[in-house]
Amino acid sequence: MQTFRGLRTLNRVNLTKNVQVRPTKIATYATLADRTEPFTATLIAGDGIGPEISEAVQKIFNAAGIPVSWEPVQVSALTGGVNQEVINSVEKNKIALKGPLATPIGTGHTSLNLALRKAFKLYANVRPSVSIPGYKTLYDNVDLTVIRENTEGEYSGIEHTVNPGLAESIKVITADASTRVAHYAFQYAHQHKRSTVAAIHKASIMKMTDGLFIESCRKVAARYPHITYVEKSLDAAMLQLVQNPAQLDVMVLPNLYGDIVSDLCAGLIGGLGLTPSANIGQSAAIFEAVHGTAPDIAGQNKANPTALLLSGVMMLRHLGFYTKADLIHEATMATIREGKYITGDLGGKAGTDAYTNAIITRLQAELKK
Ligand code: NAI
Repeated sequence: MQTFRGLRTLNRVNLTKNVQVRPTKIATYATLADRTEPFTATLIAGDGIGPEISEAVQKIFNAAGIPVSWEPVQVSALTGGVNQEVINSVEKNKIALKGPLATPIGTGHTSLNLALRKAFKLYANVRPSVSIPGYKTLYDNVDLTVIRENTEGEYSGIEHTVNPGLAESIKVITADASTRVAHYAFQYAHQHKRSTVAAIHKASIMKMTDGLFIESCRKVAARYPHITYVEKSLDAAMLQLVQNPAQLDVMVLPNLYGDIVSDLCAGLIGGLGLTPSANIGQSAAIFEAVHGTAPDIAGQNKANPTALLLSGVMMLRHLGFYTKADLIHEATMATIREGKYITGDLGGKAGTDAYTNAIITRLQAELKK
């Protein structure tokens, strides 16, 4: 059993020693009843390929019989960014599906994604990276989930130039935000029947900030004795991820590490085009594809809607539509596995429409059974 020691003894903690695994007595994912009542979700189609891929998701949800009313709102630099209409809609519905938004690099308006994160205090970014059967990458059977603290750390935005040639950035870690994201990670592991949560840190160097992060994670871990808790140094975890990703399961990380590690994990399953994500807040959740607006293929019926679709599947599970979520997930995986109607980025020749229709055909066949 892991013991919880003070910060001063952090370096002496055996980072690979696990807490004992005990069977849970709490109701789990499989025992929860499916939700059936209708809901309204805000839809931010986004820029570039956003409208095409969000139309594909709407068609697939419709074919699967999801009782959703979409409330489209526009987030764009041209319409005032995250304006009052957007705020009102997400506040009311508490749930949104979002396509990619264009952000100029280095100049122009600030990231609209960041503005959304701030507006709705989206404290945890969740990114599952799961191998897609039939889409061959260097690794088979990758099944990792990154849970990234989304509000502070290196991204607190406290930077200044001390004098020419010397700039400083301040990394802020609080017990409150660390505890909140750790709770979410353990709750996620519990609901998704995952066995292990690893806190990834660099507390050997950043003893106070990362030290506080893992001290907070340990306190939360003690409340989930049925889930194994481990701590791993960032560098060691990176080595393990590229040597054998099966060595990790659910990971909880401070902001910057989470940003980098989640892209690395996406790379292990074939890239950002297949990776969904969720941004969880206290009063709202926004689900989004992690790829960008793909301006090079926008409007050409070439975009792969899988990442946004799987983000929609995460949204359904978040809301409790477990069976419907599984149905759409399975139809999508089977379509990719078959390989007949896949988009160019996956090595196929099908357009967005043909891929979408192939998923719908499978769904309809499944629903008739
Ligand atoms: P990108 O992800 O848009 O494109 C990179 C490459 O991947 C391109 O060749 C593109 O065609 C391809 N690609 C991306 N998604 C695809 C899909 N679903 N199906 C098929 N191919 C796909 O990245 P890039 O070019 O760096 O960024 C373009 C714009 O997107 C920028 O303005 C950037 O700020 C924004 N962006 C927005 C994000 C968001 O809203 N979450 C995330 C990343 C970038």
